[in-house]
Amino acid sequence: MNKLHPLKINSRKLSWEDNQPHSLDYDDRFFQANVIDETQEVFITANNLKDRWQNLEKDNFKIAELGFGFGLNFLITAKFWHEHNLNNKKWLDYVSIDCFSLNIEDFKKIVKNYPLLKEYGDELVLNFPIECNGFTRIDFPKFKIRLTLIINNVDDALVSLVGNDNNKFDAWYFDGFDPSKNISMWSPNVFSNINLLSKENTTFGTYTAAGFVRRGLEENNFNVSKVKGFGNKRHRLQGVFSKKDKTTQLELTPKKVAIIGAGPAGIACAYKLANQDISVDIFDKKKDLNLNPWAAMYPKFSLGLDPRSDLLVQGYLYAHRFYTKVLSGYKNTGILFLNNGEDRDSWIKRILKLDRDDLFVKLTADEINTQNKVSQDYDGIKINIVIHNHLNYYNLQHFLI
Ligand SMILES: C[S@@+](CC[C@H](N)C(=O)[O-])C[C@H]1O[C@@H](n2cnc3c(N)ncnc32)[C@H](O)[C@@H]1O
Repeated sequence: MNKLHPLKINSRKLSWEDNQPHSLDYDDRFFQANVIDETQEVFITANNLKDRWQNLEKDNFKIAELGFGFGLNFLITAKFWHEHNLNNKKWLDYVSIDCFSLNIEDFKKIVKNYPLLKEYGDELVLNFPIECNGFTRIDFPKFKIRLTLIINNVDDALVSLVGNDNNKFDAWYFDGFDPSKNISMWSPNVFSNINLLSKENTTFGTYTAAGFVRRGLEENNFNVSKVKGFGNKRHRLQGVFSKKDKTTQLELTPKKVAIIGAGPAGIACAYKLANQDISVDIFDKKKDLNLNPWAAMYPKFSLGLDPRSDLLVQGYLYAHRFYTKVLSGYKNTGILFLNNGEDRDSWIKRILKLDRDDLFVKLTADEINTQNKVSQDYDGIKINIVIHNHLNYYNLQHFLI
């Protein structure tokens, strides 16, 4: 799959039976109806998570999943983590990759089938990300979980993690559809990147027992066992990474951090760290935190397929979600771009081609004038994010830029 603009969303093709989705893109089901037992056996037990969490010496545990789908493995793991994280002290880092972003209506429809997961599903709905490709971080301080969603094809997503020792995982969930229907999640490239992102005693679980998956993992330093499968599946695979490397030392999170400068960036960092139980001292030459209450974000999204585009889109959408949740004074006014020149005209045309009615509204000059009590001749577009969490929705006077 070629790289997509961060706002150009791929839509899944699905059919539904009893509110359970079936993928028409891959002609496979996402999970069995008894998914809670299935995930428990195929991923949680296979990775020996209960024992490992009870004896966890370091401050966090890192799981990587190939195939986020509708997030059921995540919710089931979140519940299990919350119930087994002694004194609610440690953090779970859950990194999950999928080439399709999560649609909130589909998600709600599926989670309704599983009342046991409601508490965790509701928390995700409250923090639901605006759909975009690339990286999205969602924190659940209540459960001590950091979810990092990477919406990208598996090869590019794994490559973006390789090379940083912080991205060596403790456990893998391989959940990329049946290999006979979707070879892309089980390729030699994928296995060799998994090797680079694993360390001694990293484990994996998967429902497949395909011979080439077994060989691919064995060639990449996993000791693989074939065990009895879940439900009507004869076998499945699980295993342990055996290669020693230098990253096996104890990873500890800092306990105390000093921040110099009490501007918006310093304060946002302090907030994030404090939420992760890290004590923070902020140093600033001014005595009061006298922040300017008037500031606007200017999301003039770049339309290239480059890191600048990723940064502008992901940064703006993340900041929007963060401010909505944290700052009671934050007003989501929408931002208007007037069509007042050739460059702007071509930018607007390309923005509208992204087909994101949930983000961009086209307005005539009359509509702009009435809404803003002004008189001018240009039409334009407004960036107007629909907030899914229903916590806050303001629609005040728009900024004219
Ligand atoms: C079996 S489903 C995952 C179910 C999921 N774990 C859950 O709990 O809902 C497999 C997922 O793999 C994703 N996928 C398939 N091929 C992919 C690829 N090449 N790169 C990234 N994701 C892929 C699909 O979009 C699908 O969501």
